[in-house]
Amino acid sequence: GRPCFWLSIHKRESTKARCFEYADSEVHQLLEHLKAIGMGVVIASRCSSEEVEVALCIIDICYRKKGGTDMNLTVSFSGRKGGNCDRIAKYISAEDDLVFFMREISTQPCAGCDYECMSGRCRYRGDGIYSFFDKLSTVDRIFYIVPMYCGNPSALYFILNERCQDYFLHNESRYKEIVEKLYIIGVYGSSEDSPDFLDFFARQYDFPNPGKHILGLERHRYHQKMGDFLLEVEDVRARLDAFTGRQQT
Ligand SMILES: Cc1cc2nc3c(=O)[nH]c(=O)nc-3n(C[C@H](O)[C@H](O)[C@H](O)COP(=O)(O)O)c2cc1C
Repeated sequence: GRPCFWLSIHKRESTKARCFEYADSEVHQLLEHLKAIGMGVVIASRCSSEEVEVALCIIDICYRKKGGTDMNLTVSFSGRKGGNCDRIAKYISAEDDLVFFMREISTQPCAGCDYECMSGRCRYRGDGIYSFFDKLSTVDRIFYIVPMYCGNPSALYFILNERCQDYFLHNESRYKEIVEKLYIIGVYGSSEDSPDFLDFFARQYDFPNPGKHILGLERHRYHQKMGDFLLEVEDVRARLDAFTGRQQT
């Protein structure tokens, strides 16, 4: 069978981030070991229930990383199910990666509030967006697959974008680290018709090397109609493999 470990965290830290910060060398060593062997079962002992919860959260992340392999998180910002963005999201993701469809997470826009985020907590914190942002810090790379709607990124993208204000006003130190591992794939008609589409992302995140972080996939380049799918084109798959570092299967 797979190895079984006892994990004990003695410090009473209440959040995952604090736990990482204060975890003693013994715990660090253990986590390294767990990563190296592709951990099986872990049992937490002599911990408060809060500590167990934190430990399990860390373990879950280590487990998903499967002993050192990257874990990515991919988000489709398309309004339709099973279209180009969803297909691309699935194509670039490995089995244990996280794949989200923004239309399923939350469509609560920055509306109907009193700007509580600026001085306290967003009134919609419980709707899934805040915990979505929390996940971004735990993964190695983030891929946003964004379709063009009416000359711009889709509304689902802007909803997330605006809702991030509550998160980063309270977690400012995470912004830089998250942007560094953010990659964007824009799906649209043509750069000739919409020369500014990709520049929008470059400006928004101020990527030092936009070519490394942004890939544009244009339907017109492959003479595709609305009913066609970009992934049917070998060149598209090759460009996605090169952009993401995905291994050909
Ligand atoms: C409301 C709406 C507006 C769109 N506007 C544009 C546009 O301005 N330019 C463009 O090239 N494609 C436009 N499209 C087409 C989408 O970019 C295209 O369908 C893309 O493949 C969407 O991603 P999906 O296949 O994952 O749904 C639009 C689609 C919708 C639904």
